[in-house]
Amino acid sequence: MKILVTGGAGFIGSHTIVELHEAGMEPVIVDNLVNADREVLHRLEKITGKETVFYEADIRDREKMEEIFSREKPDAVIHFAGLKAVGESVAKPWEYYENNISGTLILLDVMKKHDCKKLIFSSSATVYGDPAFVPITEDCPKGVCTNPYGWTKSMLEQVLTDIQKADETWSIVILRYFNPIGAHKSGLIGENPNGIPNNLMPYITQVAVGKLKELHVFGNDYDTPDGTGVRDYIHVVDLAKGHVSALRKIEEGNGLFIYNLGTGVGYSVLDIVRNFEEATGKTIPYVIDPRRPGDIAACYASPEKAKKELSWEAKYGIRDMCADAWNWQSSNPNGYR
Ligand code: NAD
Ligand code: WQD
Repeated sequence: MKILVTGGAGFIGSHTIVELHEAGMEPVIVDNLVNADREVLHRLEKITGKETVFYEADIRDREKMEEIFSREKPDAVIHFAGLKAVGESVAKPWEYYENNISGTLILLDVMKKHDCKKLIFSSSATVYGDPAFVPITEDCPKGVCTNPYGWTKSMLEQVLTDIQKADETWSIVILRYFNPIGAHKSGLIGENPNGIPNNLMPYITQVAVGKLKELHVFGNDYDTPDGTGVRDYIHVVDLAKGHVSALRKIEEGNGLFIYNLGTGVGYSVLDIVRNFEEATGKTIPYVIDPRRPGDIAACYASPEKAKKELSWEAKYGIRDMCADAWNWQSSNPNGYR
């Protein structure tokens, strides 16, 4: 099976490329490198022993996309490409709606023209807003997003639902990721944020490596066991494998399917600090700051539907996630450079 992977040079995309090769599939990357580094291609070759076909292209460039589809004739698309920084999306909403929504609409149109109607879409637990209940099942109502990034995911889910309803020959899987962290065991690929990280794990690893002084814990007065925010952290390799399982589902027949990809276990910010320290032997100094606007107290998945229908479940525990994130950061203190 030939799989066109938009955003395949990014954090989750690159790990998925490894799993696709491993599963005997033929991935083709389309990425404009707005948030990725070309070096990732060499690293992927080192890990897999295979060269991955790569197009430096923007999914909004219809002509280029037409060319790529004509040439490659993919059987299915995994669509990771998009902008993802929550804070930046508040400052630059137009850029987020334009990139994520226009980009996806163009991609869908090109897919339809080339009769490629199998799609896996990267959504996010953010579509649940402040969830009505935890653990969150897929039938938990979608909520009010607190930022434009989240709305792009929520709106695109609706677009995909409507398109599949109008033309039942589409087969679409929407995957709602919880909090992906960790890195490939080799330490050759990992998360490579620009500037000061917004997310917890890359912030912690940069404190550990000495690039940042201390962790700022955003609030310790939430209604959670230790007062800090609780999330469902999932190893990025488990997440990547979830896409291979979703491709098998897509092959079974047409329809629109939605799955949470999480572990079902919630950890607080302080749990993560403790586990990181125990897994790595590094000390993480921290201070307590006020809550970060838009944050919620607790968010963790019920992973049961994915387990039942995709025969997929997360295997790695929190210690592996911490150790692997540290292995990547400590062997690549400046990312891919
Ligand atoms: P990432 O930024 O590492 O990867 C996204 C990739 O898309 C980058 O390589 C970037 O260069 C590329 N890209 C962006 N706009 C593009 C365009 N117009 N044309 C071509 N390429 C483009 O992010 P990630 O963490 O790997 O996330 C992958 C997907 O999963 C995104 O859609 C993201 O919103 C979603 N997601 C991520 C998380 C998370 O916490 N990392 C959680 C839930 C959902
Ligand atoms: C986790 C916890 C913070 C940083 C975001 C997006 C979500 C999804 C995943 C894409 C929270 C606390 C964090 C720090 C801290 N992305 N924290 N100090 O906010 O759950 O989810 O990434 O779809 O849409 O919103 O992840 O890693 O930013 O935060 O105390 O420096 O760590 O308050 O409780 P979040 P996160």
